[in-house]
Amino acid sequence: MRKPLMAGNWKMYKTPAETAAFFEKFLPLVAASNHADILICPPYVNIAAAVAAARGSNVEVGGQNLHTANKEGAYTGEITGAMLRAAGCSAAIVGHSERRQYFGETCATVLQRTLAALDAGLRPVVCVGERLEERESGRTEEVLAAQFRDGIAKLTPEQFGWIAIAYEPVWAIGTGKTATPDMAADAHRYLRSLVRQAYGAEAAAGVRILYGGSVKPDNVRGLMAQPEIDGALVGGASLDPVSFASIVNF
Ligand code: PGA
Repeated sequence: MRKPLMAGNWKMYKTPAETAAFFEKFLPLVAASNHADILICPPYVNIAAAVAAARGSNVEVGGQNLHTANKEGAYTGEITGAMLRAAGCSAAIVGHSERRQYFGETCATVLQRTLAALDAGLRPVVCVGERLEERESGRTEEVLAAQFRDGIAKLTPEQFGWIAIAYEPVWAIGTGKTATPDMAADAHRYLRSLVRQAYGAEAAAGVRILYGGSVKPDNVRGLMAQPEIDGALVGGASLDPVSFASIVNF
């Protein structure tokens, strides 16, 4: 049985004080939620506040990105996975479509960042997903296959065992358009078949594939009812403690 992972991606939202206020409301609402792993990925400057607030709780804190090299150096504005780990993070989102779209992220750099996260002892949550025109032209599987082949398919089986995959159709992110549970499950089944071909049946049965893209309290149940969907990567609806708690407690 795969334990669900319910992850919040705060993107470029909240201050440290707002982070502390979020946790004060959120933690009691999920204190008994042992059915899922819970992860919150705030902006870097809020990690200390999040880690302090979450100490001793069932909520983990992660980064939203990390540098491709896991070695300190003269890279203004960047941080290493080791720094995230030392700050108390246990995971990092890698290859989010906003990074691919606005910050020049490629499959090659996504792979480098995945390796850097693993090297630092962080669990990578690696994002893949097709754009609207790719879906509309019937190329969803082709795009997912290429992102898989040029990215996480290059991990060793042992490395692969540490990652989670997030399927995030780009057209569903921040748009209010969710993939239907059936559409998401189809994509998840396809991704799992790629994992089976590359890493075998056991790896395919074990890897968690999260869905992301306009997950809300009112659509999470339908998504999570699909056996193929092992959790959610939630943007907008993770910013409010009541809304994210109701997603976690689907
Ligand atoms: P959304 O974002 O829930 O606001 O659509 C999801 C994501 O980008 O991870």
